[in-house]
Amino acid sequence: MPDIVISNEGSVRRIRLNRPEKKNALTLAMYETMATAIEEAGSEPNVRCLLLAGSPEIFCAGNDLNDFVEMARSGALGAPIVRFLHVLARCQKPVVASVSGAAVGIGTTMLLHCDQVIASDTAVLLTPFVSLGLLPEAGSSLIAPRLMGHARAFSLLVMGKPLSAEEAKASGIVTAIVPGADLDAHALAAAREIAALPPDSVASARRLMRGSVEEIVARIDEEVETFKTRLASPEAQTAFAAFFSRKR
Ligand code: COA
Repeated sequence: MPDIVISNEGSVRRIRLNRPEKKNALTLAMYETMATAIEEAGSEPNVRCLLLAGSPEIFCAGNDLNDFVEMARSGALGAPIVRFLHVLARCQKPVVASVSGAAVGIGTTMLLHCDQVIASDTAVLLTPFVSLGLLPEAGSSLIAPRLMGHARAFSLLVMGKPLSAEEAKASGIVTAIVPGADLDAHALAAAREIAALPPDSVASARRLMRGSVEEIVARIDEEVETFKTRLASPEAQTAFAAFFSRKR
């Protein structure tokens, strides 16, 4: 099975992270595949809603840390990452996410771009950016404070405090919490409900509600510039080495 599985369920395009042996950590190839799937959906009238899904035990362990080490060496943030972030921010189709288990780093920040987030009761949202010597990305430094207020966004994005499914719901990131066994069905039902609405009207309402996409893209680019410097910092290098030499 590929690391990203794309399937069309009627008018819903599901993009499922499928690298469970590495906790769905995202490689450059996975970003590229997701970006293409989202971008192509934009010009396919039959696709009316996107559904981002993970595995039952984990949504996503964030960026592959091996790739971060490599990027620190090369001094460039992988182009597929930036492409994915731009495509997600510019996506004109509604996006639903279904989250079970941990959503780490970009696993959490990508949720801030979604219109509905259905979580299982095992979901935990966590962004250990700063303890890794890094900083919030994917436009989260702009979107999260607007969504949940500065102090709660600071706890999540800077202090790295995890959010349980209930806390994520109270913060406005998660829409509904369901038992793990029912997650796929609930998420698909939510996506189908949106897909059944008049698509042009959904697109117009969504565009107005999300505010300036270019502002979000500009913030993503600003974050990327600092992120590149942080990746090569001694703080980040020490944190990556600690992860790979950890005792389990
Ligand atoms: N990048 C690369 N590999 C990763 C990874 C990541 N982000 N997250 C997990 N993996 C790999 C582990 O190295 C391990 O590989 P191995 O079996 O070849 O040694 C495998 O996935 C299983 O991970 P493990 O840590 O044993 O699973 P766990 O259930 O004990 O813990 C997590 C799961 C997600 C809590 C833990 O893996 C973790 O903290 N990952 C890093 C998250 C992170 O910091 N992401 C970057 C955010 S910016």
